[in-house]
Amino acid sequence: MKLLIDDANIEKTKEIYQYYLVDGVTTNPSILSKQKQSPRDVLSEIRKIIGQDELHVQVLSKNSKDIIKEAKLIVKEFGENTFVKIPSNKEGFKAMKELKKENIKVTATAIYSPMQAFLAMKAGARYVAPYVNRIDNLGYDGLYVVKKIQNIIDSNQFETEILAASFKNSNQALDLIEYGVGALTCGVDVINKFVDDRNVDRAVEDFSKDFEKIDPNKKTMIDYLN
Ligand code: G3P
Repeated sequence: MKLLIDDANIEKTKEIYQYYLVDGVTTNPSILSKQKQSPRDVLSEIRKIIGQDELHVQVLSKNSKDIIKEAKLIVKEFGENTFVKIPSNKEGFKAMKELKKENIKVTATAIYSPMQAFLAMKAGARYVAPYVNRIDNLGYDGLYVVKKIQNIIDSNQFETEILAASFKNSNQALDLIEYGVGALTCGVDVINKFVDDRNVDRAVEDFSKDFEKIDPNKKTMIDYLN
């Protein structure tokens, strides 16, 4: 399972990349708007940080002709392993079909229902991105929707994978990690809650104190082994 960062903050992305094995970055217009800089500069900077890992960039255009034009510009600008995120509505599906012919990688986004995912898979999307937390907020079960989409993939042998998105807490992500989907993308704030360092730090401190009881002058294992 791949893990991506759903964020465009340069410093936070660098930090996550430093500590964890992640597989890329996903963005959307709302995420980019938080950076108060040219989206071109922000995305170029992210491309430098992540190397050839996956970068997902969303189109703003609303009709299929403009979506196709924008998708080509995005891939030209940000390189080979760039996925164009296209909302899963009628104009989006129309664009996806055409982009598939040109081998442009598409992530079908804004998925709230399994039927939308099915249509995106038919149109050739590489990923379908169901919005787990937003579905939960509508009073439905985001996890159930994702599982149903995975069943559609398995029983029809689609090559499309799920890129589950929209998480507000680490338990929502954990449910899907246990179930197993192609990928999930979480904001930095959620990834930082995957591990509560305070408990780990307390345990490490206790181990150190106990170890010092052997010989207060030799505090570390390195002291013994050197
Ligand atoms: O990138 C799209 C998706 O992750 C939206 O997430 O947190 O705005 O519901 P959120």
